[in-house]
Amino acid sequence: MCGIFGYVNYLVDKSRGEIVDTLIEGLQKLEYRGYDSTGLAVDGDDDKAFIFRQVGKVAALRDHIEKDLRPDTDKIFSSHVGIAHTRWATHGNVTENNCHPHTSDPNNEFVVVHNGIITNFRDLRILLKGKGFKFQTDTDTECIAMLFKHIYDTNLKNGHEVDFNELMKQVLYELQGSYGLLVRSSHYPGEIVATRKGSPLLVGVKTERKMKVDFVDVEFNDDPESQFASPNSLRFPSDKTAKPSNSSKFHKSQSRAFLSEDGIPMPMEFFLSSDPSSVIEHTKKVLFLEDDDIVHIYNGELHIHRATKEKGIPATRSILTLEMELAEIMKGPYKHFMQKEIFEQPDSTFNTMRGRIDFNENVVRLGGLKDWLPTIKRASRFLMIACGTSYHSCLATRPLFEELAGVPVSLEVASDFLDRSSPVSKNDVCFFVSQSGETADSMLALQYCIEQGATTVGIVNSVGSSISRQTDCGVHVNAGPEIGVASTKAYTSQYIALVMVALSLASDSIALRNRCISIIQGLKRIPEQIKRSLELEDQIKDICDKHLNGQKNALLLGRGYQFATALEGSLKIKEISYIHSEGVAAGELKHGVLALVDKDLPIIAIATKDSLLPKVQSAISQVTAREGRPIIIVNEGQKLQTNKKELAFIEVPENVDCLQGLINVIPLQLMSYWLAVNQGIDVDFPRNLAKSVTVE
Ligand code: UD1
Ligand code: F6R
Repeated sequence: MCGIFGYVNYLVDKSRGEIVDTLIEGLQKLEYRGYDSTGLAVDGDDDKAFIFRQVGKVAALRDHIEKDLRPDTDKIFSSHVGIAHTRWATHGNVTENNCHPHTSDPNNEFVVVHNGIITNFRDLRILLKGKGFKFQTDTDTECIAMLFKHIYDTNLKNGHEVDFNELMKQVLYELQGSYGLLVRSSHYPGEIVATRKGSPLLVGVKTERKMKVDFVDVEFNDDPESQFASPNSLRFPSDKTAKPSNSSKFHKSQSRAFLSEDGIPMPMEFFLSSDPSSVIEHTKKVLFLEDDDIVHIYNGELHIHRATKEKGIPATRSILTLEMELAEIMKGPYKHFMQKEIFEQPDSTFNTMRGRIDFNENVVRLGGLKDWLPTIKRASRFLMIACGTSYHSCLATRPLFEELAGVPVSLEVASDFLDRSSPVSKNDVCFFVSQSGETADSMLALQYCIEQGATTVGIVNSVGSSISRQTDCGVHVNAGPEIGVASTKAYTSQYIALVMVALSLASDSIALRNRCISIIQGLKRIPEQIKRSLELEDQIKDICDKHLNGQKNALLLGRGYQFATALEGSLKIKEISYIHSEGVAAGELKHGVLALVDKDLPIIAIATKDSLLPKVQSAISQVTAREGRPIIIVNEGQKLQTNKKELAFIEVPENVDCLQGLINVIPLQLMSYWLAVNQGIDVDFPRNLAKSVTVE
C-alpha cells in the first residue's frame, strides 16, 4: 500500500546526496507494505524542486537518480525538506506520470505526497480546470497540489500573507476523503506541513540536545469564525463575505518541547512517515498524530495545529519512545520474510501468552481488558469484524466464544458489514481483529460501531495503529512486526489472543472450569507443538514436488473448527502461489463441489481428531469414491480408515479441539510457501497485493 516518508534537517549540514539516501532508505523500509512505483522531491538549485519518479522498485528510483546528472550531490543544505512516496495505484494506471510527488505547476511551487483517496477529486478537477490549471496525471492527488497553489495565489491577490499551516487548513476545508499528506513549497523554504485523516502518520524527532518536555502542545485556532473562513472557497466560489483567518497568531507561540535551555536554536532532524519501521533506525522518539492534526515544522520546531477544540481530543501529543528494534524487522537467516515469520511462530505464539497466562494457577489475565470485562460480559451479542486472514481467526474461535460466553456471535467481513449498514446496538460488543490496525474497511466498520454506541474491542498486532487507538480497549497480540504480505504469525497470535479473551469471559463459571483448564494447558503446549510441526518442512516440500507443483487448482476440506483452517490454507495458497484454491466446509461437499472431483484435482483434507472426525471421514470417502486422491492431515499416530487412495498423510501433534487449528495451519503455510518459491514467485510481494490495505 502507499507509503509516505519525509525528512527535514535544520542546522544539521547534509549534502543533497545524503538527503536522497535518507529518503531512499526510508522508502526501502516501506517496501514490505507493497507498492508499484516510487518518487521523491528535494530542493533544486534554484527555487524549483527536483522531482524524480519511477515505476517499479525503490532500487530503480535510486538508479534513475544516479543516472540523472541534474543534481549536484555534494551541494550542502543546512536546512532542507525532502519528501518521498511509494505508490499503490488506485486512481490512474501504474505510469511514471502518475507517481508521486505531484506538483501544482511546472515550477513545482507546491509539491505533495499523499496516501489515501480524495473522494471529491472529480469536482475539484473541474473547478481547478475552470481556474486555468492543466492536469498532467490521472490521480486524485494532483488536485491537492493545485489547490495549494490556487488558494495561495488568491490569498496573495487579496493581500493576505498566510502561514503554511493556515494555507493547509484552507486547503483541507476543500478536501473530502482520507489522507496522509506531506507538502513542501518554494514559497515556504525549509518548512513542511503534514496532516492525516484515516491514514497513519507519525513524526520521528532527532536531536543531540535534551528536550525540555516529552510532549507537544496542540495549538487550537481560538477564532471560531476562522475555522470555516476559507477566503478562496471553491465550494462557495461566490461567497465574498468569508473572513480570512487571522494567521498572524500561529507563528507567535513556541512549542515547549523544542525550546533550548539557552534560547539558541537547536539542530534538529524530523522524520515523517506512515510507518514506524522507516523511522526507528534514525530515532526512537516519535509522535503519533491524531486525525485532523496539522503538523507544521519550521526553524527546527514542530507545531501541531487543529482547527477547533473538540471534546475528547487531548491538548498535547506525547513524544513516545518506540521499543521496536531494527533487527526485529530484518530477515535474519531466512530467504523471505514470510519464511522467517512462519518459523518465528513458536516464539510469537509464546509472546502472545507471555505475562498473560498463569499456567500453574490456570488463570488468564489480559491487562488491556481488565477494566472492561464486566461490560463485555453484559453484552447481548458479540460481533467479530475483520478482513482476510484476520477474519479467519475470528471464524476459528467463534465456536469457543459461543461455548464459553454463551452469547450469540455474529461474524462479519468488514466490507460486507458496511455495505449492509447492519444494525448495531449499544448493548453489542464489537471485536475488531487486524494485524496492521490500519485496514480501511475494518477502520470504517469501527467508526460505524462507535457511532452506534457499541463497545469496541481491538485485537491488533501493531501498537499505536489506528484501530488500537480508537477502540475502547483491546489486546495487542504481540506477534512482533509482520512484514511478509501473506499473514502467518499474526494469524496464530490473533487466534490465541481471541482464545484468551473467550477464556477470560468464562473465568467466573464453575461449570466451565475443567474445560478452561484443559484449554489453558493446551495453550501451554502450542509453541512446542508448532516447533515440531515446522519439522515437517521436508515432507511438505516433497509433497509439493511430487503432487502439487504445476497444478492450477486445489480443494481444501475441513469441518467444524477446521473449516477456518481450510479457508486460511486456501487463502495462503492462492495469494502467494496464484493457484486457484477453495476452502470447503466438508459438509457442503455433496451440495455441489463434488462435481469438481476427479483423479487429477489436488485435494487436501483436514482429518485431525475431534468429535466431527466421522463426518470428515465420510467426506473423504465421497472424494475417493470419485477417484479423488487426497492428501490428509491427521494427528501423530492416528489410524484413519480409508480405501488407500490417499496420496499422503501429514501427521501433526494433537491438541484440544479448539486449538488444533493452530497446529494444522502450519503445514498449509509451509505448503503455500514452497508452492510459490518453486515457481520463482517473490513470496514477500505477491502480485496485486499490499500488506496493509488502507483503501476501501
Ligand atoms: C501492557 C503494555 C506492555 C506491558 C504490560 C505490563 C503496551 C502497549 N503494553 O500490556 O508493554 O508489558 O502492560 O503491564 O503498553 N488496546 C486497545 N485496543 C487494541 C489493543 C489494545 O484499546 O486494539 C489498549 C488496551 O485496552 C490497553 C492498552 O491498549 O489499555 C495496552 O494493551 P495491551 O498491550 O494488550 O496490554 P497489556 O498486555 O496489559
Ligand atoms: C492474507 C492477508 C490479508 C489480511 C487482510 C486484513 O495473508 O494478509 O488477508 O489479513 O488484508 O489485514 P489486517 O489484519 O491488517 O487488518
